[in-house]
Amino acid sequence: MPHAFHGWPRRAPTGRTAYVNGAYVPHAQAHVHIEDRGLQFSDAIYEVWGVSNGALLDEEEHFDRLERSLRELRMAMPMSRDAFKLVLRELVRRNAIDNGILYMQVTRGAIRRDHAIPKAQPRPSVILTARRISAKAVEGRRKAGVRVITRPDERWARRDIKSTSLLANILAKTAARDAGAFEAWLIEDGYVTEGSSTTAWIVDAEGRLVTRSLSNAVLPGVTRRVIMAVAAEAQLPVVERPFTLAEALAAKEAFITAATLGATPVVEIDGKPVGDGKPGAIGRRVQDLYAAESAQKAAEKGT
Ligand code: PDD
Repeated sequence: MPHAFHGWPRRAPTGRTAYVNGAYVPHAQAHVHIEDRGLQFSDAIYEVWGVSNGALLDEEEHFDRLERSLRELRMAMPMSRDAFKLVLRELVRRNAIDNGILYMQVTRGAIRRDHAIPKAQPRPSVILTARRISAKAVEGRRKAGVRVITRPDERWARRDIKSTSLLANILAKTAARDAGAFEAWLIEDGYVTEGSSTTAWIVDAEGRLVTRSLSNAVLPGVTRRVIMAVAAEAQLPVVERPFTLAEALAAKEAFITAATLGATPVVEIDGKPVGDGKPGAIGRRVQDLYAAESAQKAAEKGT
C-alpha cells in the first residue's frame, strides 16, 4: 500500500537531553558524523532498558548482553560498566523519567567507508537517549491483551546479536500495525522464532510456560532470562523448545515479553482467539512475579 507523504515535521523533538560521545546535549542538536559506520552499515549494537518508578529494569543483564553483542562483532566496550551506569542514571535524572525507556547505541565509529572492519578501529560512537512512556498505557495493554499476526521470518542468521540492522523487523512490525495488531510473530520452518521486537511465549495444556530455546535464531531476551529465573523460584514449569503456529493457536494462553512491556498477554493470533480470547491467569502470574522481582532489585539498589 503506498503511503501518503504528509511533509517533514517542522521541529525536531525538544526539551530532552541525549548523551553523545561524552557530552550531554539537547536532543534536537545531538548528532553523529555522516561517515559513522552505524549509519553506513548498521555496524552497531544497541540495548534498551525499561525504566519503572525511576529505576532501570534488569540493569546488569542488559550490560551482560551488550558486552556479548560487542564481542561477537569484535568491538570493545567503549567505557566501563560502572561509568556507563553513571551516565544511564544521569540521563534518567536529566530527562525526569519516571516510567519510560533508555536507549543505547554503540557504533564502530566514523571512518572512511570501506566494508571490512578497519584494522585501526576508530573511536566507537556512544549514543544514549531516554523518553517517557505512559505507565497507564503499558498497564492498559496488559489488562486488555494484544493481537498478533504472523509473518515469515526474513531476518539474517545471527539474530542472537542485538544489532541495529532491523529492516526485516521493521517491515514485520509495520505489517502488524497495518493489520491493526500490536506485534508480528515470525515464522521459520513452521516454528515461531519470536516477535519482531519481543520474545514469544505460550502456555501449554499442562500449564507449562513454553518459549524457544536460545540459539542464533533468536535474541536472548533479558526479560525472558529474568522471567525464567523467577518462574523457577516460584516452581512454575518452563520448557525451552521451539513451538509451531498450530501449537500457539491451540495454547491455553500466550504472551510476549520485552524490556518495556514486561509480560503482555496475546489474546489473538491471525484473527483467531488464544484460549478464551482473554488475558490468562498464568501470564498475569508471570507479570506479577517479574514486577515483584524488579521492585525488590530496585529496593536493594536504593533507587
Ligand atoms: N526489543 N526479540 C527481539 C527481536 C527484540 O528486539 C527484543 C527487544 C526482544 C526482547 O528482549 P528484551 O526482553 O531484552 O527486551 C526479543 C527491544 C525492546 C527493542 O528493539 O526496542
